[in-house]
Amino acid sequence: KKIYKIAVIAGDGIGPEVISEGIKVVDKVAELDGSFEFEFTHFPWGCEYYLDHGQMMPIDGLQQLRSFDAIYLGAVGYPGVPDHISLWDLLLKIRKGFNQYVNLRPITLLEGAPCPLNDVSRDQIDMLVIRENSEGEYAGAGDWLFKGKPHEVVLQTGVFSRVGTERIIRYAFEEARKQRKSLTSISKGNALNYSMVFWDQVFDEVSKEYPDVETHSYLVDAAAMFFVKQPWRFEIVVTSNLFGDIITDLGAAISGGLGLAAGANINPEREYPSMFEPIHGSAPDIAGKGIANPLASIWSASQMLDFFGHEDWGKRILAAMEQVMVEGNTLTPDMGGTANTNQVGDAVAEKIQVIDATDMPTTA
Ligand code: NAD
Ligand code: IPM
Ligand code: MN
Repeated sequence: KKIYKIAVIAGDGIGPEVISEGIKVVDKVAELDGSFEFEFTHFPWGCEYYLDHGQMMPIDGLQQLRSFDAIYLGAVGYPGVPDHISLWDLLLKIRKGFNQYVNLRPITLLEGAPCPLNDVSRDQIDMLVIRENSEGEYAGAGDWLFKGKPHEVVLQTGVFSRVGTERIIRYAFEEARKQRKSLTSISKGNALNYSMVFWDQVFDEVSKEYPDVETHSYLVDAAAMFFVKQPWRFEIVVTSNLFGDIITDLGAAISGGLGLAAGANINPEREYPSMFEPIHGSAPDIAGKGIANPLASIWSASQMLDFFGHEDWGKRILAAMEQVMVEGNTLTPDMGGTANTNQVGDAVAEKIQVIDATDMPTTA
């Protein structure tokens, strides 16, 4: 029997609440399949750990994670620890340290998911945002000069390397070719006269190697507008780290909300473990109430199954989620229901049991 070793960093706020539901669902999958199982190792890292130990994870934290097949993460960051410390010392350290330079964020309107847009059908919101996940605006480079003085100046430098820019754009072209879909680059060359001019240039260069892939290019402000007005324009999307962060919360909003949006941080070379996490944060406003929506972390767990080559099971998880949303009587308050986190996890796990291949979602 194949054993997948998963490092679990449930993290802060609603992180532990939603992660346990994802674990419940993949354990059910393993039980039904019979040819593999999961072995979860829990790491208690996060803001509470920081308050006790003065650091978000031990100094050899990355070393401890290295031999796992994947990392399953809830959320990081909580009032009481400055966000730039908690995030840089745990979440961003893992993404960068393990060279997870591809962030896959599906923005797909599943059946039954609440959509705030009028007259939009399900197949009209079906995109995959491929976010650069290792450098760009998140390079962490900068300076803080003359602190506290009247002529104080702060610099935050974006870093767009040739290697870093080319590899994410090439990854996106490969994905577009594989899926026979168009590829849209989102940038901002009109104002960001170094980084985004370079980005656009690399996109043009690489596109010449993929004459079969239809391409589009949008400025990020206009793209944000079209996400809401005409989301069907977008299929595969490639964009920089910060723009990808922002437009995927917008994407979440049009496709069911933050409680449903999932992401995978991939190291394509598989030199290091990849990491699966919902795109939402620790939601301090609802933490501890047992009402967080676990569907985002369950969807991330399905991405983990895809990554292990069990795409059939990944699809079945999405189909189970769709049935739970279509029935509509076991949903958390963010989706208009009255159920708690645990009940939604149970409902999805139960549905997986009764779903067969004919119930597969058309999109995934
Ligand atoms: P957030 O995503 O935590 O919450 C934004 C809003 O969405 C809140 O009203 C929240 O209640 C709601 N929401 C989020 N997830 C939900 C879910 N599963 N079910 C129901 N409602 C949900 O963003 P924020 O409030 O800006 O950030 C809170 C903290 O989380 C900050 O410390 C931030 O830095 C951190 N954060 C971490 C991650 C991560 O670990 N990947 C991602 C985003 C934010
Ligand atoms: C996300 C989050 C992180 C990001 C933060 C918490 C650093 O917002 O995963 O979307 O900006 O990447
Ligand atoms: Mn974000």
